[in-house]
Amino acid sequence: MINLRDELTLGHLSLTNRVLFSGFLFVIGIGLLMSGLQILLTHGMADGEPGLSKKDIVYSFYGNRSGSKLETALNGKMKSKAPQEVNDMLIRWAHDGAPKAEWDNKIGAAVEKHCYKCHDEESDLPQLTKYDVAKGLAEVDQGASISSLTRVSHIHLFGISFIFLYVGWIFSMAVFNPFWKLVLISTPFAFLVIDVSSWWITKYWPDFAIITMLSGIGYSISIMIMFVTSFAQMWLPRWTKPNANNIYEIVRENYLSKKRA
Ligand code: HEC
Repeated sequence: MINLRDELTLGHLSLTNRVLFSGFLFVIGIGLLMSGLQILLTHGMADGEPGLSKKDIVYSFYGNRSGSKLETALNGKMKSKAPQEVNDMLIRWAHDGAPKAEWDNKIGAAVEKHCYKCHDEESDLPQLTKYDVAKGLAEVDQGASISSLTRVSHIHLFGISFIFLYVGWIFSMAVFNPFWKLVLISTPFAFLVIDVSSWWITKYWPDFAIITMLSGIGYSISIMIMFVTSFAQMWLPRWTKPNANNIYEIVRENYLSKKRA
């Protein structure tokens, strides 16, 4: 009698399946690195300093309530787009309540000159050269809007759960302590829900940003362990070579069942 549990280990899958799974894990791995990089470059720069900190998450979701989106952007992501005098002038204008007269006089022209090349009609970015749009961004920064949170939340939940499903599925065939296998397979889903919920809670309660960081670290660790284990067990001879004990067991079982019959 052949033991099905042994047949289903990663090391004993057909070459076709191992190539398929490795290809998937490889591309997803690059994707995850890119998403990490993207988080560093967008959210990481929210406070104007490189590296992801709690302040970045607070600014992204709760907002920088002591200033405006315009000011946060000009001290952060958009800092290098115009000379510092222009940034200071725009920030002062926002502080003064975005007066129309000053817009017509010089602000509009400065925005046209330094910002329009990206913030134009063809882009999805705010149309800064329109006074109403610029004025809206000069108001107190309330962080992420409900509509942007719903959009990003549903994309994350739908998209990432599929990644976790396939990574967990492949890993479920690894030889691993059964308890920890369950923990590793389930934690990414739990952390994903906590992560997305924490964005919403952070929008109203900024101290919750720490949970966003911890859940991100949590699922990164689970995924890393599943990745490394799956790759190792698919390709390292220690797991792929036919196991002498197993063959002995199979022969012995066969012999015993024939004898019984
Ligand atoms: C090289 C292209 C480029 C230039 C030039 C540029 N921006 Fe941006 N801007 C972007 C991109 C891309 C984003 C979106 C970045 C993101 O969300 O991470 C953005 C986002 C912003 C935001 C945030 C909008 C929001 O809803 O939070 C503000 C405010 C902003 N820019 C202001 C400016 C101002 C003011 C200037 C001119 C001084 C400027 N930008 C010049 C590319 C540019």
